[in-house]
This record gives sequence, C-alpha cells and structure tokens, in this order.
Amino acid sequence: MSPSFLHMAVVGTGAMGRGIAQIAAQAGSTVWLYDTQPNAVDAALQSLSETWSKLHAKGRITTEQLATFQSRLRPAATLQELKDCDLVVEAIVERLEVKRTLFAELERWVGPATVLATNTSSLSVTAIAHGLDRPQQLAGFHFFNPVPLMKVVEVIAGLKTDPAIAERLATYAREMGHTPVMAQDTPGFIVNHAGRGYGTEALRIVGEQVADFATVDRILKDQMGFKLGPFELMDLTALDVSHPVMESIYHQYYEEARYRPSVITAQRLAGGVLGKKVGEGFYRYMEGQAQVPPEPPVPRPASLPPVWVPARAARRAELYQLLKDLGATIETAQQPSAQALILVAPLGHDVTTVAAVERLDASRTVGIDMMLPDATVRRRVLATNPATRPDMRDAAHALFARDGKAVSVIKDSGGFVTQRVVATIVNIASDICQQGICTPQDLDTAVTLGLGYPLGPLAMGDQVGPTNVLEILFNLQTVYGDMRYRPSPWLRRRGALGLSLTHVEA
Ligand code: NAI
Repeated sequence: MSPSFLHMAVVGTGAMGRGIAQIAAQAGSTVWLYDTQPNAVDAALQSLSETWSKLHAKGRITTEQLATFQSRLRPAATLQELKDCDLVVEAIVERLEVKRTLFAELERWVGPATVLATNTSSLSVTAIAHGLDRPQQLAGFHFFNPVPLMKVVEVIAGLKTDPAIAERLATYAREMGHTPVMAQDTPGFIVNHAGRGYGTEALRIVGEQVADFATVDRILKDQMGFKLGPFELMDLTALDVSHPVMESIYHQYYEEARYRPSVITAQRLAGGVLGKKVGEGFYRYMEGQAQVPPEPPVPRPASLPPVWVPARAARRAELYQLLKDLGATIETAQQPSAQALILVAPLGHDVTTVAAVERLDASRTVGIDMMLPDATVRRRVLATNPATRPDMRDAAHALFARDGKAVSVIKDSGGFVTQRVVATIVNIASDICQQGICTPQDLDTAVTLGLGYPLGPLAMGDQVGPTNVLEILFNLQTVYGDMRYRPSPWLRRRGALGLSLTHVEA
C-alpha cells in the first residue's frame, strides 16, 4: 500500500532529521534531504546507509528492503528541488526566526496542497505559522530521540491549522509504525509538559534534606517501578538540556508554581556538573558506570519493642497483617504502652503533624508509607520526625527489614517520597486534561511511550485511587503552604465523586 505522502522532504538532516527520513523511507515514501551545512546531506545518507546495513546484518531487514530503502533517498541541493513534495518536515535549529524564514521560502516553491510540518519541541507552532500565506497547512510533528525507537509522535494543531492536516499527519505516523497523539499548541505540548512533575518534585525532596538523591532514586524505582530514578534520568539527559526545559516551561506558564525549577540544577549547570556525558552529575561515572553510594546497613538491636498503630493509619488492616508476618508484638489497647513503638501511616501529612494532632509521644513515633499495597513494593519507606529517638528509628528499620525487603529511612516529609512525586505527576496530568490539551487516553499513551513511565499518569492516579491522591495533595498543601500542590479541578471533581481519572464528561 502506498503511503499517505508519496514524496516527502526532510529539511535539517541532523539527529532528528535522519531518524524521520529513515522511518519515512521505510514506510514507502520517496524522501528528499536538504540541509544548509555543506556535506550534511552526504553525512546523513552515509549514516542511514550504515543503519540499514546494520539492520540487514542482524536479519531485521531483507537484502531487497535494504536496496529499496536506500533507493528512496534523494539529496537536494536547493529548496526549489522540493517543489513536488506533498509533505516537508523541518528539523532544523530550534530558533523561531530561522524556522519562519525557512517556511516562508518553502511556500514560494511548493504547491498550495503541500503539508508543512515542524519538529519543534519548545516553540509555538502558531508562532512559526504566523506570517505565512497558508498557515492552515502547517502543523507540529514532534518526534522523540532516537526517532526509530521512540514510537510516539505528537501532532500539534496551531491556532490556524486545518484539522484535516493534523489527521493526515496522524495517519502517516501510523504508516511509519508510530503512535500519533493529538495535542493543542501549548508549552511543552504533552510529553514535555507531563514530564515536569518527576524531576522537580524529586529535587524539592532532596533540597529539603529529606533524603539524598541516590535514596530518592531507589525509592521511586522500587516502589513505583520507574525504570530510571529522577536523578539517573537527569544525568542521562544532561542538565544543559533538562534545566533550560524546566525554566522554559515554568516561564511560558507565567511562573506557575507546579513547574517551579530548582536552584540545585541551576547551580550544577553553572558549575558544569552536567551528567553522564561529562563523567560527573548527581552520580560519578567510571567507564560509563554510575558509582552508586552503598545503602546504610540494617541495624541489629538486641530486642524489638511492641508496636502500636493509631486508628487512622492508611491500610491499617494490611499493616497489622504485615506486622504479624514480621513477628512483631502488636498492642491493641486504646493507648500505647510506655515502651511501644508508635507507627503512623499518613497520606500527605508528615509524621510530625500526625504526632502533634493525635497527641502521640513523638520521640517514639515513626511513619511508614502505606500508599501502595506492601505486596507490590520492593522497598519499604520509613520516616522519622525531629524528636524520634534513635533506638525507635533503628527498631522500626530492623523490624521492617526482617523478611529481607529493602528499607529506606528518610527524614520527615509530607507524603514521604513516592506519595509526593506520584501526586505531583497525577496533578499535572489532570491539569493537562482540564485544559483540553489532549484526550486522557492520548496523555497516558504519550507518557508511557515518550517517557517510559511504568503506567500513564492517569492510570497511576487510578491505581492509587483518585480520592487518595486528592487527600495527599490537600495535606501537602497544609504541610507546605505551597500553591504547587493545589489540586487541578479535573482531579478534585473526579476524586470527590470517586470517578476514574480517565472519565470524560458527557
Ligand atoms: P541537529 O543540530 O542535530 O541538526 C540540525 C540540522 O539542521 C543541522 O544539520 C543543521 O545544519 C541544519 N540546519 C540548521 N539551520 C538550517 C536551515 N535554515 N536550513 C536547513 N538546514 C538547517 O539538531 P536536532 O537535534 O536534530 O534537532 C532538530 C530539531 O528537532 C530542533 O527543532 C529540535 O528542537 C527538535 N527536536 C530535537 C530533539 C532531540 O532530542 N535532539 C527531540 C525532539 C525535537
């Protein structure tokens, strides 16, 4: 079957342009390649030829495919040579004026029905189209790096984009083996917008000295199933890329507190501590391997105190069962005895607040994060408060490590680590839905494919329970007095009514 666009062109044959050319040729299009740098097109042809030869050597493509794909590439020395193309995708330098000039020039040569697409990741599609004769013909077509492996593309409609153009690009994306998601023209579109929660909240946790970055990485991987911790991810992306994205989205949304960047990354960027590519980021790298600081050892107290759990603990029955399985002596009286370890399990609140409000002896009070069922986590997280006695902290640590499961002990924080980060991610995603930037389904698809999260943010919220996420955010707002935790109306209404976060109003 022939592709939607038989003749297409890629302008700008760097990392992204090459990837787009590869999947377009594989889909059956004749692909014209144009670049202003001398030799850039030759280098791209060479690199694509090497890519296909490797795929051929691995048996992924046949000898015939190898020849056919290569025969579909056409170098172009001038923009005029692109005049018969049905689609031109731009992947040049990320500068508004340069992109505008390119499209204005292209309009002189191509026919009125030609679709123009920009691979911009941070500029407004509407702004790029402004001043063109045919702004309705231009849409965003935002791929991810490396293009052939990251199988999602955001199709962005600018203010004047003809909806039929966006639909045609979505169809073409499917023909290329990618999943299209439709987005309104807003800062960060879907993926770079939804991705704001993970890193910024983790940075706040570290900034408050709740835990060090290696502990935060361990907790989020072992509790929520993220493939990379936020600090591993920042090291991989490098701060010269990720910090400016954090700043840009924050400012484009007029200093919205939810996206506030951190002084930690600003300092590290200024100091050149960028990440893996320079050998030093949050981790140090030796021969490409992160040097991960060892975990603190499990304490070995001579005996363990009895444990008392107040009535309002999250998952109280499950916590009792867990304590039983671990062989703890459980106190069930109205009040704890004078020896008891007091175990609280708040959602959103910190251990200090629970101890103060419930008039508990703070020196014997330790918190445990019970947001997720114990059976689904590979690590338990405990939190002390400023008054917790070291023997009580060590007893709790030893008790919860008895069956060999990993335990992290952190300082007091509203929502521990996972609650804070998950609630922030779900809240930002909910606000994307509230603003109608995309459908709930496209949001979860875009984030799982574009960011590799174990679940889409809305599915994550449904797993925790929208009402629980709402409770966590309300309590975080009380603990921190920070507007960044105010729940999006989308989450507030669905949480209050007990509806799924993917529920769309009639
Ligand atoms: P790159 O620097 O690897 O390649 C850009 C190419 O465009 C170079 O070969 C350059 O010579 C050429 N070029 C510059 N100005 C030109 C012009 N006026 N006319 C024709 N060619 C021109 O850049 P990369 O990484 O491929 O990015 C390209 C675009 O894709 C940017 O808009 C970027 O924001 C976007 N993007 C990049 C991603 C990434 O991870 N690298 C991800 C998603 C989007």
